[in-house]
Parts: sequence; structure tokens; C-alpha cells
Amino acid sequence: MKAILTTEYGLPLAVLKMRQVAAPEPSDAEVLVKLFASSVNPLDDFAIRGPLFFVPKLGRLLKPTHKIAGADYAGIIESVGRDIKRFRPGDAVFGASFMGKGQGGFAEYVCAREDGLAPKPINLSFEQAAAVPVAAITALQGLRDHGRVQPGQNVLIDGASGGVGTFAIQIAKSFGANVTAVCSTRNMDRARAIGADHVIDYIRDNFTQSGLRYDLILGANAHHSIFDYRRALSENGTFVLVGGGLARMLQAMSLKPLLSLIGNKKTRFFIAKINAADLLVLKDLLEAGRIVPVIDRQYPLDEVAEAIRYRGEGHAKGKVVISIRPHQEIQANL
Ligand SMILES: NC(=O)c1ccc[n+]([C@@H]2O[C@H](COP(=O)([O-])OP(=O)(O)OC[C@H]3O[C@@H](n4cnc5c(N)ncnc54)[C@H](OP(=O)(O)O)[C@@H]3O)[C@@H](O)[C@H]2O)c1
Repeated sequence: MKAILTTEYGLPLAVLKMRQVAAPEPSDAEVLVKLFASSVNPLDDFAIRGPLFFVPKLGRLLKPTHKIAGADYAGIIESVGRDIKRFRPGDAVFGASFMGKGQGGFAEYVCAREDGLAPKPINLSFEQAAAVPVAAITALQGLRDHGRVQPGQNVLIDGASGGVGTFAIQIAKSFGANVTAVCSTRNMDRARAIGADHVIDYIRDNFTQSGLRYDLILGANAHHSIFDYRRALSENGTFVLVGGGLARMLQAMSLKPLLSLIGNKKTRFFIAKINAADLLVLKDLLEAGRIVPVIDRQYPLDEVAEAIRYRGEGHAKGKVVISIRPHQEIQANL
């Protein structure tokens, strides 16, 4: 099969190479998926740059643990292991893994575990379905499990125009929240189009100084200090940190225990867990038209490195998707 191999840790444009490799063989607890599409997440940058990305010379001494990156995928099941109960060959599926067994979605086939897969939403193309798993599960778990979002609450999404943010706006609306989206000027119309009740342009206005208070703030791309976020919370409000600048994340994680002793405002940080139950929740929302994937750009498999570079600039408008097979072959399998 064709695959994009991470030949060593480093910058995607330098270390990612298209190669012919043997297709993986599923264990008893896995299915083999013929992939039609994948999508790019910040997580892929970490897998490709390696744990010592901040000291590249040292990082190059380590061998990549994930030879094929790409957490998200969608495709058709080719064969199933002996213990597989929920799927059969020919089923169209979407899902993700945080690259167990060193394999990922930047290839023509992947082995996947049942608990990271669900049937593909019937109204979505493979490319749309591949845009969903990591970003939408992160938004769902951030709002529902860690933010305990409730109908009627005032919810603010900071970083509302990227992969996580565009799903977060729509998922918060599906819970009946009153949603404020924070994004740059050029993305304001899109934020409104996907359901935001209010939109703040972060280039012109700093919401942490507006005097307005929110019951729940989701920091999809958190760029303010944790003290600023807390100031913008209502008395019993919750700040959920998803991602953003490294300095902000370190600050929030280190100060969280101390701040939890002061007042009733809560700070949460979490790592999303891919699971079939949440993929099914998303499938229902997608099929009901309550959420739609926002796709910025689509690249062919041999341009994965360029796709990762583009997303890495930090201003993708929704998701960046990879088409793994020629368009005609994808259409024939819809
Ligand atoms: N905790 C977890 O389990 C988990 C899971 C997935 C992702 N993450 C993290 O979550 C973060 C977001 O992921 P993603 O997939 O949404 O990334 P992404 O798609 O690359 O996010 C890009 C978006 O960030 C926005 N942005 C950039 N600077 C901003 C600023 N100063 N204020 C507000 N928005 C800003 C951009 O909007 P403009 O162009 O409008 O500036 C752009 O649309 C990343 O840090 C990622 O590592 C964490």
C-alpha cells in the first residue's frame, strides 16, 4: 500500500515520505479498513516532530514510535479479526486512534480497534466523515463532560474557527446554550452561519476585559492568561482548557490546583478519549443535521506534509482533509 512514512522526527516537509509498504494485518481484536480519507490534527504535528521537538538535534536521535501518523480516518472495512462483533466487511466507518501499534490514517489501509470506530454517518462523504473524530470528540467531551454544559447557559468558545472550535459552536448549540464565538475578523460570518449567537473579533476586542461574564468558557485555542479567563467567568463558572499556546497550557495546568482552593470558579484540563459511544453521539447529531463539518482545504495523500504545514500556521478555517484515493473511486463507494 501507499503510506506517508515518518522517516525520522523533524519538520513534516523534511521527514514525511510517500513509500510503498506492506499493508497491515489485523489481529483478532482489529478490523482492516480500506481508507478513503483522513484529516489533519495538531496531534499529528506532535507525532511527527517527536517528544523533543523543542531541541531538534537531540530529537533526531530518537526513532519515531508512530511510523504512519494521521489519527482520523474514514473508509470501508476490508476484513475483520476473529473477535470482532460490531462490524463486517463492506461496512462504511469513521473513527480515530491515537496511533496504536504505530499506524495511522495517512495510508491506504489501517488496522483499527472496534472501540475507535462507528458506522459512517449516511449523509456525509468520506472526506466529511474523516474531518470529525478527534476535533468533534474533543469539543463534545470538553463541553459535556468537563464543562457540564446546560441549556440556557452563556457559553464562550475561544478559538472558535479551527477544527475543535467549529464543532464546539455547533455542539454547544445542540445542548441549548447561548453561544459566543471568539475568532478573527475573516471568520466571523462563518461562526454566525454555524450557529453562534454572538461573535467577538479578537483582533479588535478583548472579551476578558468587556465586563461580560460566562457560565462556561471553552479554550479551544486559549491565548489569554488563566487569570483573564477566570475574570470572565460568572460566580460558579467553569473554564475548560483544550489547547492553545504551550505557555498558556503550562500555566493553567500548574496553577489549577492552587486556584481550585479560591472561590467557586472551576478550571479543567483534559485529554480527549476516543470511544465508540461518543462517535455514535456525533453520528446522530450529524445525521440530524445539527452539526456539519467545516472543511477548509482538501489535499491528496502525497501532499500530507503540505497539509500539515498549512494547518500548523494556526489559521485553518475548520478542518484540513486528506483524500486518499482518486475521486472516482471514492464516488463509486458512496
Ligand atoms: N486536550 C485535548 O485532548 C485536545 C484534543 C484536540 C486538540 N487539542 C488542542 O486544541 C487546540 C485546537 O485544536 P484545533 O484542531 O482546533 O486546531 P486548529 O484547527 O489548528 O485551530 C486553528 C484555529 O485557531 C484559531 N486561533 C489562532 N490564534 C487564535 C487566537 N489568538 N485567539 C482565538 N483563536 C485563535 C484560528 O482562528 P483565526 O484564523 O480566526 O485566528 C484557527 O481557525 C490545539 O492546541 C490542539 O493541540 C487538544
